[in-house]
Amino acid sequence: MGAATVRLDPAFAVGPVRPRIFGSFVEHMGRCVYTGIYEPGHPEADELGFREDVARFVRELGVTVVRYPGGNFVSNYKWEDGVGPKADRPTQLDLAWRSVETNQVGTDDFMDWARGVGVEPMMAVNLGTRGVQEAIDLLLYCNAETGTSWPDRRAKNGHVEPHDVRVWCLGNEMDGPWQMGHKTAEEYARVAEETARAMRRVDDTLELVACGSSNRGMPTFGTWERVVLERCFDLVDHISAHAYYEPVDGDVDSFLASGEDMHRFIESVVATADHVAAVKGSDKRIMVSFDEWNVWFQGRFHGESSLAIREAPELIEDVYDVTDAVVVGSLLITLLQHTDRVSMACQAQLVNVIAPIATKPGGASWKQTIFHPFALTAQHARGTVLRPAVACDTVETKAFGPVDQLVVTATHDPETGDLAVFVVNRSRTETAELTLDVAAAVGGDPTAYTLVEHLQVHDDDTSATNTEAQPDRVVPRAGDAAVDGTHGTTLTATLPATSWHCIRLTEGTVQ
Ligand code: AHR
Repeated sequence: MGAATVRLDPAFAVGPVRPRIFGSFVEHMGRCVYTGIYEPGHPEADELGFREDVARFVRELGVTVVRYPGGNFVSNYKWEDGVGPKADRPTQLDLAWRSVETNQVGTDDFMDWARGVGVEPMMAVNLGTRGVQEAIDLLLYCNAETGTSWPDRRAKNGHVEPHDVRVWCLGNEMDGPWQMGHKTAEEYARVAEETARAMRRVDDTLELVACGSSNRGMPTFGTWERVVLERCFDLVDHISAHAYYEPVDGDVDSFLASGEDMHRFIESVVATADHVAAVKGSDKRIMVSFDEWNVWFQGRFHGESSLAIREAPELIEDVYDVTDAVVVGSLLITLLQHTDRVSMACQAQLVNVIAPIATKPGGASWKQTIFHPFALTAQHARGTVLRPAVACDTVETKAFGPVDQLVVTATHDPETGDLAVFVVNRSRTETAELTLDVAAAVGGDPTAYTLVEHLQVHDDDTSATNTEAQPDRVVPRAGDAAVDGTHGTTLTATLPATSWHCIRLTEGTVQ
C-alpha cells in the first residue's frame, strides 16, 4: 500500500478541454457498419435502417466526432458507389479487408446517421488508389451549394443542403506497407500537398489532417512527419497519430503503462512539427489528431491476406476486460494531459470492431467494459485541463522503465465550479491511499468544495468482461472518497490495484 498526494490549483492550466478529443471511428470493416450501426430489418431499426439501440449507446458514450469511412478501407474506396438509389449501387470487393462491400451505406447515409446521433462527421479521402480529382469531387459532393454537377447529384439523392464537413483526412496510414497504394514519405507529401491545395481552392476554411505515422515503432517514424510537414506545413492544420496497445508477450505491467508510449509519441510528433515551424520561421502550431487509438489484441489477428472473402465478417471483435478498461481510461487521461497540442482523437472503432459497443445481428447490443471510462470522461471533463502536482510510488515496467503508479488529470469548469479528477492506479499489486489537496484551488476556504461522486472501474477479477448474457458484469461502482471534515480542502480515497477513477467535486454545497 502506497501513499499518494495530488495537489490541484486552477492557476496551473494546460489548456481548454477540446470536445473533439472524445471522437470515434466508423470504418467499413467487419461488422462496424453492417449489423453494427446499420441493420435494416432489425426490430430496433429506424426508417433508414439504422439501429436505434446502437444510436442510444452512441449518445450515452458522449462521442463528439466520428471519422469515416476508413481506415484501410478508404484507400481503395470509390465513394461514388455508395451514393444514389440503393438498388443501383454496385457490390464491390474491398481489398483492404478482403470483404464484400454492398455499398448499402455510403456518404449521404453516414451523414444522416451522424446527424441523428448528434456527432460531427470527419471524412477521409482515398489517396491510395485514387488522388486529387476524386478528393475534390467528394468535397464538392458533400459541401458545395447546388448549381454544379456534384452538388446537384447530392440534391437529386435527397440532400439539397450541403453536409458542410469541416474536417478532412488526407488519406489513411499511407506510411504502412499494408495500405492499398502505400507511398514513401516523399510520394505521399507530394500528393497530400496537391490535394490539400485543390481542396483549399474549394474552401480555405476546411481543417485538413495530414497522415502521420501508423505507430511510434514504424521505421520511418519522425522522418515521415518531417518530410510531410516540410511540404504541407502551410496547407494543413493537423497531423495524425495512430496507436493500438496490447500486452506484448503477456507483459501486463507495460500494457498498463501504455499511456507512456502515447505520451512519448505525442511529444515526438510535436517536437518534429515545431522543428519544421522553426526552420520555416513560422509561429504556426500544427496540432496532433490522434485519430485511431485503442486496445487491440493484434497478436490474435493474422493479417489481411489470411482472410476469406465474406460479407460483413466478424473481424477483430475483441472482448475487453477490466484491465483493458483501465488502460483505455489511462489513455484518455494522457490525451487530456496533452490538450495544448492534441486537437482531436478518435477511439477505433465504434461498434463491434475493437469497440465499446457490441451487437448481435438481429439481436441485442451491450456495452463493453471500455465503454465506461470513455463515457464518464466525456461526460465530466469540462472547462480547463489542470496540471496536477503528483507525488506517488513508481511501478517498474519492461517497456518504459519506472513509471508513476498513478496517472492523473483534472478539469475545472469556471462556469459551474465543477472539478473532475481522473486517476488510474496502474500497479497490478499495490493499492494507493490518495490524498487530494485542493487547498490552493479554494484559498483555504473549508466550505468551498463538496464531493459530488466517486465512481471507479475495478474488479477483484481483472479478467471480468461484459457479455450478452451478463451485460452489466463490469460497471462503474461507488468508490470510498471522502472529504476531510476538519479541513474540507483535502479528500482521501482508496485506489485499489488496477483501477480507474472519476472523482467529482463542486464549489459550494451540492443542491
Ligand atoms: O482500425 C483498424 C485498422 O487499423 C484501420 O483500418 C487502420 O487504419 C489501422 O491500421
